[in-house]
Amino acid sequence: MKSQTVTQPAVSPNGPVSVSTTSWWGDAVIYQIYPRSFADGNGDGIGDLVGVTEHLDYLKELGVDAIWLSPFYVSPQADAGYDVADYRDVDPIFGTLADFDRMLGSAHSRGLRVIVDMVPNHTSNAHGWFVAALAAGAGSPERELYLFREGRGENGELPPNNWQSVFGGPAWTRVEDGQWYLHLFDTAQPDLNWRNPAVIAEFEGILRFWLDRGVDGFRVDVAHGLIKQDGLPDSDAGAAVMAGSGNFGPMWDQDGVHDIYRGWNAVLAEYGGDRMLVAEAWVSPPDRLSRYVRPDEMQQAFNFEFMTIGWNAAGLRRAIDSALADNRSVGATTTWVLSNHDVVRHSSRFGLADPTSWPKGISADDEQPLIELGLSRARAASLLMFALPGSAYIFEGEELGLPEHTTLPDDIRQDPAFYRTGGQEVGRDGCRVPLPWNAHEPSFGFSPTGRSWLPQPSVFGELAVDQQVGVADSTLEFYRAALATRRERGLGGGDIQWHISTAELLHFSNSGVRVVVNFGRHPVPLPHGVSALIASEPDAVLHGELQPNRAVWLA
Ligand code: NOJ
Repeated sequence: MKSQTVTQPAVSPNGPVSVSTTSWWGDAVIYQIYPRSFADGNGDGIGDLVGVTEHLDYLKELGVDAIWLSPFYVSPQADAGYDVADYRDVDPIFGTLADFDRMLGSAHSRGLRVIVDMVPNHTSNAHGWFVAALAAGAGSPERELYLFREGRGENGELPPNNWQSVFGGPAWTRVEDGQWYLHLFDTAQPDLNWRNPAVIAEFEGILRFWLDRGVDGFRVDVAHGLIKQDGLPDSDAGAAVMAGSGNFGPMWDQDGVHDIYRGWNAVLAEYGGDRMLVAEAWVSPPDRLSRYVRPDEMQQAFNFEFMTIGWNAAGLRRAIDSALADNRSVGATTTWVLSNHDVVRHSSRFGLADPTSWPKGISADDEQPLIELGLSRARAASLLMFALPGSAYIFEGEELGLPEHTTLPDDIRQDPAFYRTGGQEVGRDGCRVPLPWNAHEPSFGFSPTGRSWLPQPSVFGELAVDQQVGVADSTLEFYRAALATRRERGLGGGDIQWHISTAELLHFSNSGVRVVVNFGRHPVPLPHGVSALIASEPDAVLHGELQPNRAVWLA
């Protein structure tokens, strides 16, 4: 890089970026645990809360500040626990409330905060409320807790409107007496009626139940879907699109959802002011998303624009600038994420011929990602993410560089999206495969019996934790070093100033650290007078030049 091109920090078009992080979550690195795939304590092949407790030291040593657990509540598991039958208890496959309390206490004693998942848009069809609603019949107060409607057509044989389920197929199911109920997701996930005060009161009670136990916050599932437009009109798009497609239509991002979160904010405030809510809201454009993090609502909202943009310098620059500016306009910090349990792991997405593509799962018949290239880009993208001001989320296994499982046989798939789309959508099982802990044990040490609810690909052996701990260039040690340096340098609470952004290169400073990412095909000269604090790969900097698909922090 020639010195004249990097000298003066350019100010972003929106002015210098400055946000204050006075609360723990403002700059926290938060690790997502998908409980059924993290670690199995009891040997049934499904991860559980005992397994989480047993591996808290691993997480502490990784250097994260908090964990978020996907649902472990009582559930028939029609959607891997996002179909809750009892919000105040633990499903036996994950353990007991006592296991939860032990896990929470152990996490807290290590200085790790704990966020749990809250699933308010829908219950399971096995929830007591829904069972009672079916029994009580049309016009009953029980049915008013959900969205039951008469059908259209001469005999009500057509669904009440044209909405489609996010998982494919119609968003309505007809019950025996002829009424229909709405489910934006699976048939087994009836949507609640959030205009009913009883629903509001019930969920405030559920929040208190977990706050009383000591949780530090909630990740709010489908936070943009709770209120539907009055009258449930037909949607122009027909489909209830989600996950990367934007969310427009009468079922998404209605103004009324914000009243709910103002109420929740007030509930959390009763607990001393450091509990938090993070929105899973697939909302665009970004200024709509920032409405969820206004001062009296939630504390964080996942930045899915950043996640979905792919290995794309210009797109990432845009996503970073707009998130910083829009969140700053409401006084909020920013929240970055690259992978979670609903999307193809970024190490695999970035290894596709088009690294900006957004497949809904990858099967053996699809283009297979290049593992090495994908991992290089993933490590570079993670280094970029950890250099940004705000909070960053890690999805379990990304610190090991795990790829998506792209050759799972169809007959063992579990994701309802695969079945509801007749296999058109491969679904999300490939990112949910159990973690490898020890290369030479059955199920790579996931379970003491060697059982595993989904089979692991053989490459997980090389990537097992025991193969990476203490190995200087491993992805695990790279993550540890990056998180330690991020903390030492205060990057999460810093500001950024752009130096260069082209289609091939991003270069900015944060708190005296220069961050350079090479998206191009050629090596790029680095500035003189600074040396590498950490690089995304051992070979990232050669002869003073940053190699393609690599990133570096300099100071
Ligand atoms: C978003 C969750 O992350 C996903 O896993 C789930 O299927 C849907 N919401 C429905 O709850």
